[in-house]
Amino acid sequence: MRVHVAFTPAEAAAAQLAVVVDVLRATSTIVQALAAGYERVLCCEEIEEAKALRETEGDGLLAGERACVRISGFDLGNSPGEFVVPQGETVILTTTNGTRALVAAARQCERVLAGSLLNLEAVASAAREGGGDVAIVCAGVQGAFAMDDAYCAGRLAERLGGESSDAAAAAIRLARSFGSAREGLAASQSARNLVAAGLEEDIDWCVRESVLDVVPEVVGLRGSAVDVSA
Ligand code: MLT
Repeated sequence: MRVHVAFTPAEAAAAQLAVVVDVLRATSTIVQALAAGYERVLCCEEIEEAKALRETEGDGLLAGERACVRISGFDLGNSPGEFVVPQGETVILTTTNGTRALVAAARQCERVLAGSLLNLEAVASAAREGGGDVAIVCAGVQGAFAMDDAYCAGRLAERLGGESSDAAAAAIRLARSFGSAREGLAASQSARNLVAAGLEEDIDWCVRESVLDVVPEVVGLRGSAVDVSA
């Protein structure tokens, strides 16, 4: 098994299996929502698309953020702690980077999983069982490198083992340079943005490792959105 890390979505090449990582916070939130009992998270790029999807689905909680803050008129934001008690079966989620990265990966890759620290062991096992090459795709921040995602990608690449590309080896070294997951995530602009928005507790939520045994996977399309289920 060859393991590659794309530090930004633009670097992602077609792969048999992609694991998309937006550890602060979209993929952590998706993992949390499915672990709590939501049936599916429909991920879309745009706010208007999310609203239209709720009309066509006739159901679903609208969730997501722009600039870390809950979108006006939406039921939920993008804090994983908001997804502990299911309020329905379907979440329709749009975020700045994470949901876009999932949609883009689904266009390029045969299988797409969502990874975070919360499900680190579960997603590593599922990716290993796939038996083929694995591309870990960091959502990044508006197309640029994000330290939090690179840290999580490095932890996942290390756990996967196999033959690392140079980028995967770099991510592993980067992750090892931090004393803890808290330090790795806190070193990112994403974390500083959350602190500035008064959402520091979301960082504490997302640094917990392998506490949820759920592997979100893209299982289909709903128009231009992707259906992510466990
Ligand atoms: C994103 O998709 O850009 C992030 O999840 C942003 C956030 O922390 O809400």
